[in-house]
Amino acid sequence: MTTDVVEEEAHLTLPAATVEAGRLRFASPGDADQALRLGAFNLAVPEDLDVSAGLAFCRTFYQPATGGPGDRHRGHREHGHPESKLGYEDRPDQVEQLQLESFLWQRYLPDEVTAVLRRMRELTLDTLYGVFDAAGIPEEDRELVTGGARQDTGLCYTTVNHYRTGLSDRAGIVEHSDSGFITTICTDQPGYEILHEGRWTPVRERAGHFTVNLGDAFRVLTRKLPRPVTAVYHRVPELPSDADTPDRSSFTIYMGPRYDMFLYQYDTEGRLRRFQDFRAFSVEKAGKLGYEFHSRV
Ligand SMILES: [Fe+2]
Repeated sequence: MTTDVVEEEAHLTLPAATVEAGRLRFASPGDADQALRLGAFNLAVPEDLDVSAGLAFCRTFYQPATGGPGDRHRGHREHGHPESKLGYEDRPDQVEQLQLESFLWQRYLPDEVTAVLRRMRELTLDTLYGVFDAAGIPEEDRELVTGGARQDTGLCYTTVNHYRTGLSDRAGIVEHSDSGFITTICTDQPGYEILHEGRWTPVRERAGHFTVNLGDAFRVLTRKLPRPVTAVYHRVPELPSDADTPDRSSFTIYMGPRYDMFLYQYDTEGRLRRFQDFRAFSVEKAGKLGYEFHSRV
């Protein structure tokens, strides 16, 4: 008689947090420590935030415009988004995406999508400040290193992703770290994996939660501090085409320095120093990962 060995893939459960009255609270001090170490955690979706308009837009933005030039639900592949330095991109992985800076949401996106994104931007800002607290970043330095996140004068944009499962032999989204401080992700199905202790590990979905990634700007800033923050390496493996399952959707809010700013780093004495021009850092990183940096930035 043979025994079937079922190898179950080890899933990771991320630490958890909520924002209450504008303040980030981790489920326990251990969750805060783990969140900084992993560079990722789950954030509860507030009860009064309905993300469905955002997910619905993930399923239409790439379709041909049907309602003429005023149709902001569709037609974003062809649109051009002349005011944006980001815009639509057909990536070499399964993802096609639309990236738009926060000051352009109202102009280019349906009103109900803009409303969801603005609410998520507030939530992401509160979360960012909570992570600054956890990492011991003095309040007086935060506006400088973010370029004025509170006044929305830093760089904040949304990324709207469509995973084209019809495209085989390529990753869902290739492994990378995010470049800024923080990214809040809303998605409708599993697939997100992180590099954990040297192994690619699938992350268990936590119902009613966003996933938050911490990025390079945080890693650089805190590298020499007692509580350094990890810029989490993450990916989505190739997603198979399945007639019963719609294509994976996700949309995110990203916050980071502007490309005309510097990245900063605390030295071992805790003094804040300029580290590198953020645009130069981004171009260098794109080169290492083998993709082209945004041509309009
Ligand atoms: Fe990412």
